[in-house]
Amino acid sequence: MPVKTSDRPKNEKRNDDRAGPGDFRDPIAAIYREHKRISEFCGWLMVLADNLDADDSAQTAGLLLDYLETGLPIHLADEEEDLFPLLERRAPSNKRLALVLELLVLEHRDDIESGRGLLEPLRGIAAGKQPADADLLAHYMRTFRRLLQRHQAMENDFVLPAANQYLSADDKAALGRKMAARRGLSSPG
Ligand SMILES: [Fe+2]
Ligand SMILES: [Fe+2]
Repeated sequence: MPVKTSDRPKNEKRNDDRAGPGDFRDPIAAIYREHKRISEFCGWLMVLADNLDADDSAQTAGLLLDYLETGLPIHLADEEEDLFPLLERRAPSNKRLALVLELLVLEHRDDIESGRGLLEPLRGIAAGKQPADADLLAHYMRTFRRLLQRHQAMENDFVLPAANQYLSADDKAALGRKMAARRGLSSPG
């Protein structure tokens, strides 16, 4: 059954193109916001998985592709290249945190591989084609959502509170500058 636009999850469609340097003054808050964006992505993923033959499935697929190709890789780089190594340096005796960070980096590889597996089917749908096996694709999309949700729950519940605990104001300022620079923005100041 076609899904109506009013049935869709709320999505601000806020992307990094519209983020300003000030959004990175508190980089941990910026990462929480990005996780909210990933939750919205998951919502759209389920709208499409449940309605692959909807009239506007091409538009939804385009939205998902946009985040998979641009937003998600930037977010993973924020964590892997900046936040996680910094946190490891500031909490060298926290073995549990070190283990969690190691696990999360491994999961990022799964995110990337699974996301890559979705690119071609999504490009096809965005071009107006029906997937060869809609049930299989819907199953794959649901599995990908579970992976993303479980991963970011661990980050929200464990890693980001640890970041707020261990990182100094100077650390956060430096992290914010790196995240802004990754998006081609000037320093948050
Ligand atoms: Fe992550
Ligand atoms: Fe994350």
